[in-house]
Amino acid sequence: MRTFGFLIHPLSFDDVLRFEPKAAGKGRPLIKKILEWMPPYKVSDVTGVRSRTGEEIAGYFIAIPLLPEQFLELPRAEVMDRIIRGANIAAELGCGIVGLGGFTAVVGDGGPTIAENCPTAVTTGNSYTIAAAMQSLFRGAREMEIDPARASAVVIGATGSIGSACAHILGNRVARVTLAARNATRLAKLAHALAPHVSATVGWTTDIAQAVRQADLVLTATAATSSIVQPEDLKPGAVVCEVSLPHDVSRRVATERDDVLVTEGGNIRVPGNVDFHFDFGLPPGIALACMAETMILTLEGRFVNYSLGRGVNLEKVLEIERLADKHGFTLAGMRAFDREVTPEMIARARENAAARRRAQPSAAAGAASS
Ligand SMILES: NC(=O)c1ccc[n+]([C@@H]2O[C@H](COP(=O)([O-])OP(=O)(O)OC[C@H]3O[C@@H](n4cnc5c(N)ncnc54)[C@H](OP(=O)(O)O)[C@@H]3O)[C@@H](O)[C@H]2O)c1
Repeated sequence: MRTFGFLIHPLSFDDVLRFEPKAAGKGRPLIKKILEWMPPYKVSDVTGVRSRTGEEIAGYFIAIPLLPEQFLELPRAEVMDRIIRGANIAAELGCGIVGLGGFTAVVGDGGPTIAENCPTAVTTGNSYTIAAAMQSLFRGAREMEIDPARASAVVIGATGSIGSACAHILGNRVARVTLAARNATRLAKLAHALAPHVSATVGWTTDIAQAVRQADLVLTATAATSSIVQPEDLKPGAVVCEVSLPHDVSRRVATERDDVLVTEGGNIRVPGNVDFHFDFGLPPGIALACMAETMILTLEGRFVNYSLGRGVNLEKVLEIERLADKHGFTLAGMRAFDREVTPEMIARARENAAARRRAQPSAAAGAASS
C-alpha cells in the first residue's frame, strides 16, 4: 500500500498536553525547554483513507515538537535540521511523499531546502489549502448574502505563499482587494505585480485594523503567533475565513460579535473511514487541507515535489481541486472557535448584521444585499 508522512507540531501550550500528557502541571518555560530537547518522532499511524475510486492508502504523523514561536525564535539552522530529520523519518518508514504541516512549511524557504535534503517527495499542501480557502470564503459570502463582485476583500498575510495566491484569485472575483502584512516593500512589489493580472482595484497596507474595518471579506493567512483580527474592527456582516494556524482571529470575536461569520478555511472531509489515531483538535474524519493534499498525491502515486516555496502555481491549485473531487475529498462543515457553525448561528449573524446596518447606516456601505 502507498504511504505518506505528514509533519505536525503543537500550535499552543494546550496542544502540547495533547501531544505529551506528562507535561501537565509543568510551567511554560520548562515545557519550552523540554520541547527544545525533544527530537522528531513518529506520533501515530493514519489508516482508512479510501478514495471513491476504491484505492486505499496509509500514512504517519511525525511530530516536530516545537511551538510556533520556537520555529521563529530558535536558530534557523537548528530548526531546519529538525524538520529535515522529521522528513527523513518518513523516508525511513517507506513513505513516497511527506507533507509539511503548520510552521514546518513557514520557516526557511517554504520547502525547497527540505526537499533537497530528503529522499522522498515533499509538499507544503498549500495548493489545496488555497483551493479550500477560496471555497470556504465564497461559501461564507453566499451564506451572508454578500455579492463578491461588489465586495471589498482584505488578505492578511498577502505576501505569503497562501496569501499571494488567494489575493490573485480574489482579485478576479471581487471589486477591491487590499493586501495586508507587515513588510511595506514586499506589499508594494506584490501590488504592482498583481494589478495588471486582476480585474479588482488593488491596494496595500500595513495597517491591518484599518483594512479590516473596510472589508466585507477577510482572509487570514499569516505566520503570526498572536491574534491580529479584533472584534471592534470587523464590519457588520463581514465574513472572515481563517487559514492561519495558530488562528489570527481573537477569541473575543466569538462572544462580542454575533453579526459576523468566522469560519476556519482549510478543513476537509476525508473519504473512507479515516482514523488518525491522534487528536489534533478537529472532529473525526476531518483533516486540514494541507494533510489532504498529501493524501491526494499519495492516492495518485504522484510522488513528486508539488507545492513548494513562496510562489504557488495557480494551475496546481486547479489541478489539486480536480483530483480532490475525483477521490471524494470535500470541504467540511463550517467551524470556528473549536465548535461547529450551525445554520441557526449563520441566520442569527445575518439578522444581527442587517439590524446593525439599519442602526448604523455609515457601516452599511458594501456588498451585502440587505
Ligand atoms: N488550515 C490549513 O490547512 C493550513 C495549511 C497550510 C498552512 N496553514 C497556515 O497558513 C498560514 C500561512 O502559511 P504560508 O505558508 O502562506 O506562510 P508564509 O509564506 O510564511 O506567509 C506568511 C505571511 O504572513 C505575514 N505575517 C507574518 N507575521 C505576521 C504578523 N505578525 N502580522 C501580520 N502579517 C504577518 C507575512 O508577511 P510579513 O512578514 O511582511 O508580515 C506573510 O505575508 C500559517 O499560519 C500556516 O500555519 C494552514
